[in-house]
Amino acid sequence: MSIFDKRVDRRGSNSQKWDRYKGEDIIPLWVADMDFEAPSPIVEAIKKRIEHKVFGYSPIEEETLEAFIDFVKRHYEWEIKKEWIIFSYGVVISMNFVTRFINSKEVITTTPIYPHFIKAPKNAGSEVIKVPLREKNRRWSIDFNEFEKSISKDCRLFLFCNPHNPGGTAFTKEELKKLANIAKRHNLIVCSDEIHSDLILNPKSRHIPIASINKDMEQRTITLLSPSKSFNIAGLKSSFIVIANDSLREEFKRYISGLVDDPNIFANIATKIAYRECDEWLFELRDYLRENLKLVQEFVAKNPKLKLLNQDATFLAWIDVSGLNLKSPYEYFLEYGVGLSDGKDFGDERFLRLNFGTQIELLVEALNRMQRAIDNLD
Ligand SMILES: Cc1ncc(COP(=O)(O)O)c(C=O)c1O
Repeated sequence: MSIFDKRVDRRGSNSQKWDRYKGEDIIPLWVADMDFEAPSPIVEAIKKRIEHKVFGYSPIEEETLEAFIDFVKRHYEWEIKKEWIIFSYGVVISMNFVTRFINSKEVITTTPIYPHFIKAPKNAGSEVIKVPLREKNRRWSIDFNEFEKSISKDCRLFLFCNPHNPGGTAFTKEELKKLANIAKRHNLIVCSDEIHSDLILNPKSRHIPIASINKDMEQRTITLLSPSKSFNIAGLKSSFIVIANDSLREEFKRYISGLVDDPNIFANIATKIAYRECDEWLFELRDYLRENLKLVQEFVAKNPKLKLLNQDATFLAWIDVSGLNLKSPYEYFLEYGVGLSDGKDFGDERFLRLNFGTQIELLVEALNRMQRAIDNLD
């Protein structure tokens, strides 16, 4: 029995994921948080702080920044300096800051993509250039020629997602080097959302921050990182923006001055403890998610009308359901009691995204319901 097998009733806890289908017998496998309790060192530290009962102004601790720096070095072999780090309440907020700050006429990204990669540039008044991911060796990758050809002189910003949501790709060193060369040739700023970096499931891949590829890349990258996905603490709202380039960072800090200040007390504590004391929890989580992914893969293999490429990372499976010829795949599976993410929201209605960050028992029940839904089509 794993700690992740423990069922937690999230109904009535103001959970976005569970409240969408309040009062209905629908298993929610959509928004990207997991149904697991946060690591107990985080919970205990927050409890202890609550017992103090005084919640006055409280700046971010040096220890929190140090824990983050050590974690990044330990896990991704990237050495960052304290002064490069800017706290932010979340990666989406940061992405909106960055797109407005860079204010590029065109912003390039790869699709399908997590919706805020389209929304943030639009909010900034930029046009979004969408370059489709391509299937290569049964994995989602980028056609680098096509990508480069799509960059015009009006494009100064690449919004990159690594590991990719929803494609599940953790980009290799070779792929990142190609992107780094393109970014240099076209003088792009790269905003790299690496929120899923700790959720690498393929034992043959690892997370490589694009900023760590070379010094040029380090100078042109704005990296967004957060403990929220990895340790299931999204509601605590904590993330970091890492900018190595001194002038870019100083300008950016002026731009957001007055818009972000310190994290709340609990976000600070959770972030410090997550990065300092929760490696073992994370390793166990990955093992558990690997088993869940296997179940999803087996389910897809049993159904030749479904297709799922190999994925390196994330607890999200991007399933091609076009073979079922359904008018609305999302609505159809909902009728059978499974709430998936509609591929339309990521730019491709032929797909559904399945969040397998849940207890095996619940996942099995959801897959059984999906199987019934498919069997009823024949
Ligand atoms: C790629 C990606 N970026 C950002 C976020 C959200 O980040 P935050 O909650 O820190 O705004 C998500 C959540 O699903 C995500 O998948």
